[in-house]
Amino acid sequence: NNNLVIMAGGVGSRFWPMSTTETPKQFIDILGVGRTLLQLTFDRFKDICPPENIWVVTSESYKNLTLSQLPELTSEQVLLEPCMRNTAPCIAYASWKIKSRNPQANLIVSPADHIVANTEEFKRVIKESLEFTAKHNKIITLGIKPHRPETGYGYIQASEFKDSLTSALSPVQAFREKPNLEKAQKYIEAGNYFWNAGIFVWNISSIENAYRTYLPTMASLFDTGDPHWFTLDEQSFINTNFPNCEKISVDYGIMEQADNIYVYPADFGWSDLGTWGSLYDLLPKNVGSNAVIGNQVKIIDSENCVVNIPSDKKVVIQGLNNFIVAEKDNTLLICNKDDEQNIREYSTLLNK
Ligand code: GDD
Ligand code: MG
Repeated sequence: NNNLVIMAGGVGSRFWPMSTTETPKQFIDILGVGRTLLQLTFDRFKDICPPENIWVVTSESYKNLTLSQLPELTSEQVLLEPCMRNTAPCIAYASWKIKSRNPQANLIVSPADHIVANTEEFKRVIKESLEFTAKHNKIITLGIKPHRPETGYGYIQASEFKDSLTSALSPVQAFREKPNLEKAQKYIEAGNYFWNAGIFVWNISSIENAYRTYLPTMASLFDTGDPHWFTLDEQSFINTNFPNCEKISVDYGIMEQADNIYVYPADFGWSDLGTWGSLYDLLPKNVGSNAVIGNQVKIIDSENCVVNIPSDKKVVIQGLNNFIVAEKDNTLLICNKDDEQNIREYSTLLNK
C-alpha cells in the first residue's frame, strides 16, 4: 500500500553552472559519492516501498536520464510532464494515477534533491508517519528545527496543544511558505516553528479531499478521464490536460490552506541542497574555512569560499571572502555568497 512519489522536474537554477536545464542537479553526483541525488533518494526509500510502488514525476525531456539512473523502474513508473507547472499539478498527476490502481494507497511525496545523513532515523520517522496516515485522513509534514532565518523554505507553526491521536505528532496551526526575512526571524524567535522538509505523507483520500477543496479546477482536470483515465492513452490525456493546470506549488496551493496538517518534528541530518551555500555547509573546510572541490586549486588569503572546479583546470584565488567560484565546461561563475538566491537570474543572462 505504500507508494513513493519522487518529484524530479525542477531545474535547480540556483546551482548553476553545475546544474543546467540539460542536466539538473538531481541527476548529478554533487557529493562525489558515486550516486546522484535522485539515486540517493531512491536508495533511502528502498526498504519502505517496493520498487514497483516508486514513481518519478519529471519533465519528458528527462525521461531517459531518469530511466538510465534508476534501472529498477519501468517506463510506466516515470510520469512525464509536457511542461513545468510546479509541484501541485505534479503531485495531482501521480496521485490520480496511483488512485486508479489502488484507492487505499498511502503516499510519500519527496523531493529528489535533498540529503539525509541519518538514514535509519529517517526510515523510522517515515514508517511511523505511514502507520498514522493509514488510519487517519491527515497530512503529515516533517518539521526540521530551524537554525537560520532562511527565506527559501516553508515554516510550519506547531500548535501548543497535543491531541490524543499521537504523541510524536503535533497539529499544525499555520503553514507559511517562503516568508520575508523579517517574518522568518520572528518565526525563529517564537520557537514553535519548523522548516518544512518538503516531504509529505498522506493517503489517497486526504489528497483527493485537499485538491477538491483547495484546487478544485485542477482536481476536475484529472477527473475528466475517470474512472478509467489510466486505461486511455495516458500520455495524450496528460499532454492535453496538464498544460491547463494552474502553475502553483503544493505549499501555496494546499499546505497554506489545509486545516488537517500535522507536523512530525524530526532530526535526521536533513539538508536541502538548494544553493551553493548549502553545499558549502555540507563540505569539509580547509584552514581558511574554504570548501574546495578541485585538484588544482590554490587559495591565498581567502575565507569562507565555496569553490567547485571539477575539471583539472589550474586556478588561483586570492583575496576573496565569502564567494562562490564555480566552473562547468566553458562557463565560470564568480559570485558573492550573499547573492546566491539571484543565481537563478544570472543563469539566463548568457543565453540571451
Ligand atoms: N515533476 C516536477 N515538476 N517536479 C518539480 C517541479 C515541477 O514542475 N517543480 C519543482 N519540482 C521538484 C524539484 O525538483 C524538487 O525536487 C521539489 O519538486 C521541490 O521543488 P523546489 O523548487 O526545490 O521547491 P523549494 O525548494 O522552492 O521549496 C520546497 O522545498 C523546501 C525544502 O527544501 C517547499 O516545499 C518548501 O516549503 C520547503 O521548505
Ligand atoms: Mg528545493
